[in-house]
Amino acid sequence: MTDFIEPVAYDAVQRFDLRDRVALVTGGAHGLGLAIVTAFLGAGAKVGVLDLDGEALEARMPEMAARGKVVARAVDTRDDDAVRAAIDDIARELGGIDILVNDAATFPSAPLAETDSKTLTAALDVNVVGYLRTVTAALPYLRASGRGRIINFGSVTFFLGHPDGLGAYIATKGAVTGLTRALAREVGVDGITANILAPGAFPTRAEYGLYEDQAAFDRQVIEVQSVKRRGDVSDIASAALFLASDAASFITGQTLLVDGGWTFN
Ligand SMILES: NC(=O)c1ccc[n+]([C@@H]2O[C@H](COP(=O)([O-])OP(=O)(O)OC[C@H]3O[C@@H](n4cnc5c(N)ncnc54)[C@H](O)[C@@H]3O)[C@@H](O)[C@H]2O)c1
Repeated sequence: MTDFIEPVAYDAVQRFDLRDRVALVTGGAHGLGLAIVTAFLGAGAKVGVLDLDGEALEARMPEMAARGKVVARAVDTRDDDAVRAAIDDIARELGGIDILVNDAATFPSAPLAETDSKTLTAALDVNVVGYLRTVTAALPYLRASGRGRIINFGSVTFFLGHPDGLGAYIATKGAVTGLTRALAREVGVDGITANILAPGAFPTRAEYGLYEDQAAFDRQVIEVQSVKRRGDVSDIASAALFLASDAASFITGQTLLVDGGWTFN
């Protein structure tokens, strides 16, 4: 019998390097998407950004461009043609696409009993169909990369079924979960992984608009989490860096809950 040589992993840290990668991030003008754009630039990736809010993108550009190579386009992810044109454009300018992050979302707020079909359909158009649009447009580039990564934003709310009044939004996040799991099966053969990044509660614009008494909400969140502090956008950016990197190349179809141990799946 030949001696078994125990494998080691001294070089595993190199798998976190994004210096030769191109990432595309939707919803990158604000909040968690903006945190991811800046983290990816910090990790050496070239970054394309799509967001509805052209003014915010323009205001951020000088600071981002000083940190690395970034191309931003004011695009509504509900627009098939605009999405496709912008993605082709960005891939041409940055030399392909290796990583796609779908962060853009809308947050309709009303009890389900008072939610009409138009409201849910409109939310699905951004939160689910919008993700499919970017995926189909980016897929040729992700396939060519041979190490493509798709990261779609889910939410802790899908696991909890609350807060009250976010039913339509929660339904869209359930659909993101199904979409991503099916995608993972379909694109694995091309060396592409597809995972769901599901945040707990993070202090972005979207959250601050929702609660009248922010201090009381902060206390409630800390109470239900296992980790006794509010989440920071860097917690999400770090998780996105991991899922985008070679370090996560054997992880697909999964939901990574970044919620301070609020829920366990
Ligand atoms: N903040 C949280 O606590 C939290 C919790 C769970 C999940 N999430 C998820 O994280 C993601 C980011 O949320 P956030 O809190 O940073 O929100 P945010 O509102 O700060 O950012 C969302 C971004 O998406 C953009 N956007 C919206 N509709 C668009 C469209 N049609 N086309 C292009 N861009 C569009 C907005 O302009 C904005 O820049 C979302 O998918 C959200 O569901 C957030």
